[in-house]
Amino acid sequence: MVFYQNVAQLPISTVTLLALETSCDETAAALYDGEGLVGHRIQSQADRHTRFGGVVPELASRDHARDLLPLIEKLLCDTGKGLRDLTAVAATVGPGLPGALHVAHALGQSVAFARGIPFIGVHHLEAHIFSSGLGTGGLDPPFVALVVSGGHTELVAVRALGRYQLLGATRDDAAGEAFDKAALLLGLSYPGGAALARLAREGHPGRFELPRPMLDQSGCEMSFSGLKTALLYTLRALPVPTSVDRADLAAAFETSVVDVLVEKSFRALAQAGYSGLVVCGGVSANERLREALTVRAAASAIRVVFPSPEFCTDNAAMIAHVAWLRLKAGERPGAFVPVRTRWPLESLTPPGSRA
Ligand code: KG4
Ligand code: ZN
Repeated sequence: MVFYQNVAQLPISTVTLLALETSCDETAAALYDGEGLVGHRIQSQADRHTRFGGVVPELASRDHARDLLPLIEKLLCDTGKGLRDLTAVAATVGPGLPGALHVAHALGQSVAFARGIPFIGVHHLEAHIFSSGLGTGGLDPPFVALVVSGGHTELVAVRALGRYQLLGATRDDAAGEAFDKAALLLGLSYPGGAALARLAREGHPGRFELPRPMLDQSGCEMSFSGLKTALLYTLRALPVPTSVDRADLAAAFETSVVDVLVEKSFRALAQAGYSGLVVCGGVSANERLREALTVRAAASAIRVVFPSPEFCTDNAAMIAHVAWLRLKAGERPGAFVPVRTRWPLESLTPPGSRA
């Protein structure tokens, strides 16, 4: 397996990297070189899972297996590159759905093996955390990261690339999952986070009073499953919910989630003693959350950054970006990189020190 060592000799500016992402229900590929992102493609499976009200893991894996190679072909065609131009391959290897993760892992390793180039296994949440460095300009550590997606809601002290401390997390549903479940209750289809946010824009957040879970408890722990239940009971108490009722409920729900995320983020900043906040993951696309964090940050001399909207939800550009950051910082890809469906951020190590 001599070829895995070769990356150590590659000048980082000459690296041309193919990155793959299949950890959930987006099939994605990106190409990245010393100048930055060359191109990327995302094929969402969201429509495929809509009628089930959530991602069906077996269907997700099968569709990734069917769609990933053609997507890579299209990406290479878009960018005018060929397999022979690649000098490294990266893929998300965890956390995520087991069968789904194996698709990018197996294909990525195969391309690396066939070409005799290194393979870098990427942690999906580490990629989200550094995704604001794509295009709009991110922050250098240390900072606090609010990771808010369909699968995760965590506040993390980012001391350096690869050095993380969990400050708090949801005890039950992730914020995105709560948005999706609330959206289903309001008659919107899966995944309903963005649709709920659009509906909320037409409503009045003050008409219905929904709880702000765990806001009265100190620390950075969160909980969102009770909020969804409160929404269900409020909805049931209405004789026949009208479109105005639904919009007002959407606004109340969104405001509750945002209030909790904002307050807990600022507690995390105080606890860590940092002045920078990076917000990432699918829910970081939410306009009300962006506005509320921006207003609070301006009032307290905190710098807050968000990924550009196209990089909030799952994509392979962020996988490429963090793989490149790791290579640049001296990462030496190992001979075998396993898939890790559960992989705490805190168990990562900085580039160069990975086992
Ligand atoms: O990061 P992501 O693509 O996948 C995971 O790793 O989970 O996040 C997807 C989540 C879904 O729950 C989706 O409903 C939510 O992000 N989402 C939103 C918005 N756009 C996407 N939630 C609230 N407001 C939005 N605008
Ligand atoms: Zn994600």
